[in-house]
Amino acid sequence: MASPNLSSAFLLSLLLCNLLVSPSFSELCNPADKKVLLAIKKALNDPYMLASWTADTDCCDWYNVACDDTNHRIIQLTIFDGPLSGQIPAAVGDLPYLQMIDLNRLSHVTGPIPTSLGKLKNLTFLRLSYLNLTGPIPTSLGKLSKLTFLNLSHNDLTGSIPSSLTSLNNLDAVLLNDNQLCGKIPIGGKLQSSDASSYSNNKRLCGAPLPSC
Ligand SMILES: *[C@@H]1O[C@H](CO)[C@@H](O)[C@H](O)[C@H]1NC(C)=O
Ligand SMILES: *[C@@H]1O[C@H](CO)[C@@H](O)[C@H](O)[C@H]1NC(C)=O
Ligand SMILES: *[C@@H]1O[C@H](CO)[C@@H](O)[C@H](O)[C@H]1NC(C)=O
Repeated sequence: MASPNLSSAFLLSLLLCNLLVSPSFSELCNPADKKVLLAIKKALNDPYMLASWTADTDCCDWYNVACDDTNHRIIQLTIFDGPLSGQIPAAVGDLPYLQMIDLNRLSHVTGPIPTSLGKLKNLTFLRLSYLNLTGPIPTSLGKLSKLTFLNLSHNDLTGSIPSSLTSLNNLDAVLLNDNQLCGKIPIGGKLQSSDASSYSNNKRLCGAPLPSC
């Protein structure tokens, strides 16, 4: 007669345990993604624009992000036009299923492009435009082999264009205009497929499709 008692004790403890740890709502959101998004929100000083990002709601219902229909991982991060300030948190690189990052017209977003974006192997679309980004284009972006669209225009990026970008063979568009870039545009990949306007209004860029150095 010991085993029924044991199993009911076990069931009781399981029940208590569940009552203690299970969230009071059901959600599709992946817990790892949620943790990263809440860290991103905190790093951006809890901006009003991200008010829907709260721990007690499903991150697949939040504004400014989108989840995959089948695995419910975060695949899009899009923030436009607003009073967001601070730097792009390195934690963005910890959303491994991201396919699209679109941060656009956020003139109080400053600092460098995080090297960690190079970890996002499924990224196809990267737009960081009309922000106030400074520092170099990270070499690590050359690892984003699925990238089809890269728009880093209208920032204050400095340094030369990393030659690693020539390995992005799926690029349909590359926009680096209106920055402070300098040096020779690396030859190869899709970097010569765009017209000169994609590189215009920089500091001292030269080489095809701009005039030779
Ligand atoms: C990336 O995309 C592939 C193909 O769609 C998919 O199988 C994989 O789960 C995605 N995510 C990661 C983190 O690799
Ligand atoms: C962002 O850059 C613009 C143009 O370069 C400048 O006028 C503005 O003051 C900058 N804003 C911030 C918050 O740094
Ligand atoms: C790059 O982004 C800027 C800002 O959103 C936009 O004005 C421009 O049209 C974009 N370029 C392309 C080719 O999509």
